[in-house]
Amino acid sequence: MLFKDSTVVVAGAGGGMGKEIVETLLAEGANVVGCDMNVDKLDNHHNQSNFLSIKANLLEENAVEKAFLKAVEKFDTITGLVNAAGIAQSSTPIEDVSLESWHKTIDINMTMTFLMCREAVKYMKKEQQGSIVNIGSVATTRPRPGLQAYVASKGAVESFTKALALELASFKINANVLHPGPCDTDMLEQFAADGANIEEVKEDIFRQSVPLGNLLTPGDIANSVSFLLSKEAKMITGSVLHVDGGRGI
Ligand SMILES: NC(=O)c1ccc[n+]([C@@H]2O[C@H](COP(=O)([O-])OP(=O)(O)OC[C@H]3O[C@@H](n4cnc5c(N)ncnc54)[C@H](O)[C@@H]3O)[C@@H](O)[C@H]2O)c1
Repeated sequence: MLFKDSTVVVAGAGGGMGKEIVETLLAEGANVVGCDMNVDKLDNHHNQSNFLSIKANLLEENAVEKAFLKAVEKFDTITGLVNAAGIAQSSTPIEDVSLESWHKTIDINMTMTFLMCREAVKYMKKEQQGSIVNIGSVATTRPRPGLQAYVASKGAVESFTKALALELASFKINANVLHPGPCDTDMLEQFAADGANIEEVKEDIFRQSVPLGNLLTPGDIANSVSFLLSKEAKMITGSVLHVDGGRGI
């Protein structure tokens, strides 16, 4: 068991990637705390003793604090954090991007990652160990037109993660960013412009942009998250791992 005696908090646990990450970590023996605004997809794990689900808006400081308190009450320590919550941006010309939607994208994709990391680090420092995986996007490396706010938010996640890696290295806390390529979850279609044909967008824009020829699956992402959290990756910090079928080349 890769994660015996580990407790990992997963933000965005009710999403396409998040759910798969939760299930992969549970199968590897971790205690898992799944946090999301919507935890319905996690219903079948509610009776598992090594799982705790927390329904919360993770943009609220108090909710984040409470989530970690509940996690530690049940499992004593926090050894890992995965930030897999987020929102897409529908492809929009910059002159039509409202300030409100700009703020919303930056807040959910970046500020929420900050709040989750800030809280996790308090517990990880006590243990002098920990591993953080923040989910970015290949769009940071290979932007698409009309996704300015999304690309900026994910670029900030990358820089933030590198800054954390350096700051936390002396506490034996690792921080890495994983950039997924186009992945077959509910989010993918939300990148399409209003009124676009979703199936055409998925095939013509997304699948064909991946040199290896397939959309990523949530399982592809979960396996790499599991590696980055594991002891096998103990000397990897501040790294950017593209799990994108070659899209970032
Ligand atoms: N799907 C893709 O093609 C793709 C590609 C690159 C990067 N990503 C990134 O991967 C991550 C996971 O994406 P996904 O495809 O699983 O998306 P998803 O939409 O399936 O899941 C995102 C989850 O985040 C949760 N969430 C959003 N705001 C929240 C808040 N304020 N509080 C609590 N939970 C909140 C949602 O409820 C949802 O369950 C995201 O950060 C996304 O930007 C996705």
